[in-house]
Amino acid sequence: MKTVQVAANSYWVGKVDDRKVPFHRLVLEKGTTYNSYLLLAEKPTVIDTVDISFGKEYVDNLQTVIDPADIQYIVINHVEPDHAGALPALAARAKNAVIVTTELGAELLKDMFRLHGREFLVVKDNDTLDIGGKTLRFLETPYLHTAETMVTYVEEDRVLYPCDQFSTHVATYELFNDLVEEDISEDFGLYYQLIMHPHWPYVRKMLEKIRELSIDVIAPSHGYILREGAQRFIEMYDVLSAAAMEGAKQVTIAYSSMTGNTGKVAEQLSRGLAAAGVTTSVFNLKQADLEEVKQAVSASNGILIGSSTRYADMVGRVEQLLQGLDTDEVIGKPAAAFGSYGWSGEAISHIEDYLGRLGATVVNRAHLTKATGVDAELFPLRVKFGRSEELARAQEAGRVFGETLRTK
Ligand code: FEO
Repeated sequence: MKTVQVAANSYWVGKVDDRKVPFHRLVLEKGTTYNSYLLLAEKPTVIDTVDISFGKEYVDNLQTVIDPADIQYIVINHVEPDHAGALPALAARAKNAVIVTTELGAELLKDMFRLHGREFLVVKDNDTLDIGGKTLRFLETPYLHTAETMVTYVEEDRVLYPCDQFSTHVATYELFNDLVEEDISEDFGLYYQLIMHPHWPYVRKMLEKIRELSIDVIAPSHGYILREGAQRFIEMYDVLSAAAMEGAKQVTIAYSSMTGNTGKVAEQLSRGLAAAGVTTSVFNLKQADLEEVKQAVSASNGILIGSSTRYADMVGRVEQLLQGLDTDEVIGKPAAAFGSYGWSGEAISHIEDYLGRLGATVVNRAHLTKATGVDAELFPLRVKFGRSEELARAQEAGRVFGETLRTK
């Protein structure tokens, strides 16, 4: 097999895919690569695999370099099938390997590939793993590109293995950025805009985490290995994500709560929005000045109105607020209803009706599917009794609502 040395005893063992590759509703005109790495330390370790369609070819090739039974660890930074797709084929022959990934990654991999019988090592932020001569450090980087994602840093080699992050969709056979004559900045920037930028608040968090690392080489899982000027590519992510921060969106959350549960939902929504880089103004209508709330609504990019349900209706001053809003303060803005309830939660439907009559873009399941590709019952957000698992759903709903604002 073609192996390419990346660092001492560390090799690229991936696959170049020079087809026009269908990918997330796009076609990758320049193809891509699936970069997998083999670290021949005392405890041989594989970092990420290749696309599911090349599983057998990948393992057959890898077997020409190492007896799979000798592999001690398989690190999965990200579970999407273009990286973890060959894991079942590899795991079937690497019978002694422990699979290393995040908590959510382990759950997903077990279900996706029926790996419940395999040994997993679940790692968290800043955990390290000594593989004999090399120390792996793991940093969780959620939503880059999906929720379970992490990056792996090899301390002795000063190499960062960030999977999707810092990637490029180009079917390069040269593999290293210093071996190609053309400037790769355009392809690198295009990849950032398409794959990473929708999650720019998480890019900011990731940059904060890797700031302390000494990085000589970035070895991502698509396209070029950044061996020359690695810091320049980190700076590009910094500049591009910082520009988005300046145009941060604003959402008004206003609610009335009978027992405090709808207030807890409002708080979780606000947290989720913050995670998506959206600023919030939260008003408990029991104390709030309605004129101030109206002004906030008018200045906002999105609106969330919540109420508990009592006698099949809204409570407190929610209806008074809705009646006092002018169409031109609301028209076309994404807006959604939420509330905690014990029986049937009619208040939530009444709020939705008001928002629709005011000309808002009512965010519901159909809207979310079109705007973000998320097909889930998040809005209108109904939370039964404020149960903890339901509150976690509220936070996720806030995050997804924030995503819809960025796609506008
Ligand atoms: Fe390259 Fe998120 O997969």
